[in-house]
Amino acid sequence: MAKKATVLITGGAGFIGSHTGDALLGKGYKVKILDSLEPPIHQNHRWPKYVQNKSYELIKGDIRNKKTIERSLRGVSYVYHIAAYQDQRPDFSKFFETNVLSSALLYEIIAAKKLPVKKIILASTQFIYGDGEYSCPHSQQTFFPEVRPLKQFQKKDWSIKCPHGSRANFHPFKENQKLMPTNSYGLSKQAMENLGLRLGKTYSIPTTILRYSIVQGPRQSPFNLYSGAIRIFVSQSLAGVPITVYEDGEQTRDFVNIRDVVRANLLALNNKKTDFEIYNVGGGRAWKVLDFANLVKKITGATSPILISGFRRTDTREAISDISKIKKLGWRPKFSTEDSIKSYVEWFQKEKFTKQLNLKYLKRLKLGIKN
Ligand SMILES: NC(=O)c1ccc[n+]([C@@H]2O[C@H](COP(=O)([O-])OP(=O)(O)OC[C@H]3O[C@@H](n4cnc5c(N)ncnc54)[C@H](O)[C@@H]3O)[C@@H](O)[C@H]2O)c1
Repeated sequence: MAKKATVLITGGAGFIGSHTGDALLGKGYKVKILDSLEPPIHQNHRWPKYVQNKSYELIKGDIRNKKTIERSLRGVSYVYHIAAYQDQRPDFSKFFETNVLSSALLYEIIAAKKLPVKKIILASTQFIYGDGEYSCPHSQQTFFPEVRPLKQFQKKDWSIKCPHGSRANFHPFKENQKLMPTNSYGLSKQAMENLGLRLGKTYSIPTTILRYSIVQGPRQSPFNLYSGAIRIFVSQSLAGVPITVYEDGEQTRDFVNIRDVVRANLLALNNKKTDFEIYNVGGGRAWKVLDFANLVKKITGATSPILISGFRRTDTREAISDISKIKKLGWRPKFSTEDSIKSYVEWFQKEKFTKQLNLKYLKRLKLGIKN
């Protein structure tokens, strides 16, 4: 195999980064991983088994550190900026410090040193849309709702309303629509995107933005809160405790398999058409959360009941991405949600996570905490 270029993956020890790294190694690229091995994603600050004994160059360091990024960028032709601080947490400033500062440093160093980086691919998120666009059934008038008021949640009224009070219809997220992130994570990703496109254009550093939907598959740390519904439902099912679903379970989500995400990541690498473009990378179908919980239950053979209760203030009611733009490049999701659950459960059992999480869950459930 001819010697190929060097690719830097920030966050390459994580879920999406490591699968992308493995695919790049398989294609003959040299791959450097820069990762700080953040807890609780990684236990004990150790490199995970799946990146060890492969031809990776492993750099343990923080993406917020200029010298570390300078060192990591030596000899690099392509960058996947995948490391991030994620989820819904109260330390707002850390999202900007991690996700925005690191992105600015990348462009700053590449521009100042005139490094021959051919492309930066930024890992973004569906979260950036917030609740997205809705329309009213009678008037067809479209609008972008604010986060649902707390009072409405308390009344267990979950729907998004038209100005005159009737239930509004959701429109799947399109890349060029208005962005209304509901939390610091989404806001920081919005800033990262703006910065990447602007600085990339100004300093001729081709940049592609991939807005992933909820990604699923093995290596998604069960200790990471961001791993979402699959982590919660699978660990509850395997621990034999109730499966807990927020709101009324009728809220919709869009899940995409990690193998499809890796294909999208690789597609962006050398395709000039993707320069300075944004793409949704989603599963192409809407799942009601309750249906998803039932599917996890079926696949794991769990006997646990499904408990519908609680809510999170910044959760959106619907989260479905329109993937027609990336489909025009020939990409489409090939793996089903069943495939994702099965491969996640297999890995979860192989790694014996149930034992490690069991006690924690039981304790938290007793306290009425789901995350
Ligand atoms: N997993 C999803 O469902 C999903 C959905 C949408 C977007 N994304 C985006 O994809 C990217 C990867 O997500 P993931 O699920 O693979 O997450 P992950 O937690 O598995 O991986 C993130 C990696 O980044 C590393 N990291 C975090 N902070 C760092 C720092 N300051 N310095 C160096 N390394 C640091 C962590 O140690 C970890 O290995 C993120 O940018 C995320 O916002 C993920």
